[in-house]
Amino acid sequence: MPEVTTEATDVFDIMHTMRAMRRLKPDPVPDELIRKILAAGQAAASGGNTQRWRFLVLKDPAIKKAVQVYYKKAFDELVGPRYATSAPPPGSDPARYKRQHAAVEYLTDHYHEAPVWIVACLEDGANAGRSAGSSIYPAVQNMLLAARALGLGSTLTTRHIQYEKEVDAAMGIPPGFHSYAILPIGYPMGRFGPVGRGPLKDVVYLDGWGKPYPGL
Ligand SMILES: Cc1cc2nc3c(=O)[nH]c(=O)nc-3n(C[C@H](O)[C@H](O)[C@H](O)COP(=O)(O)O)c2cc1C
Repeated sequence: MPEVTTEATDVFDIMHTMRAMRRLKPDPVPDELIRKILAAGQAAASGGNTQRWRFLVLKDPAIKKAVQVYYKKAFDELVGPRYATSAPPPGSDPARYKRQHAAVEYLTDHYHEAPVWIVACLEDGANAGRSAGSSIYPAVQNMLLAARALGLGSTLTTRHIQYEKEVDAAMGIPPGFHSYAILPIGYPMGRFGPVGRGPLKDVVYLDGWGKPYPGL
């Protein structure tokens, strides 16, 4: 396994070491780095190139705290109990999954302490369908990759959507727009490392469902 560096330029290194970084320092992040992350988001594709996105940068402690209350509520009601009873996913094991659970709980308690949030919003109208998110999540992934490249930690979070009316109101998001992800960003306490996933051959087929792809 090659050494994992803080900053990175090779796109494959970046993708394979872009773990969910949930333990973040409260130290401020320079605006120039946030600008680079936002520009990476805006470089993403959107359906029909409509670009109906808005990126709300949040540093205001009171607004972040108001959202964290609902993020924690959703953990206590749903996510915590689910973690406690579910099996480790592919590429993980009980010990690693337990560490993930602890990190998820840590972020839940410290969500608002991340120095900067980027809230990815979309003008999706009143009756957004199944494909709506496909015009904002490419931008979200670009921003996560950019943060990783710059040595900044983040996590794609969507749990707040369980209380979308309350949190969108707390963040002042106007009618017609909705938040699709919150990226808490900061310098990581821990180190970047390889992501854990199951064997690629278990999820890839050739010329028919369930037929192995021999190229792997
Ligand atoms: C759609 C989506 C929603 C997610 N929401 C949350 C969230 O609300 N809170 C959180 O801590 N992690 C969230 N995650 C992060 C996943 O839990 C994380 O990617 C997974 O644990 C794998 O971690 P790893 O990339 O470090 O291996 C979300 C990821 C995705 C793709």
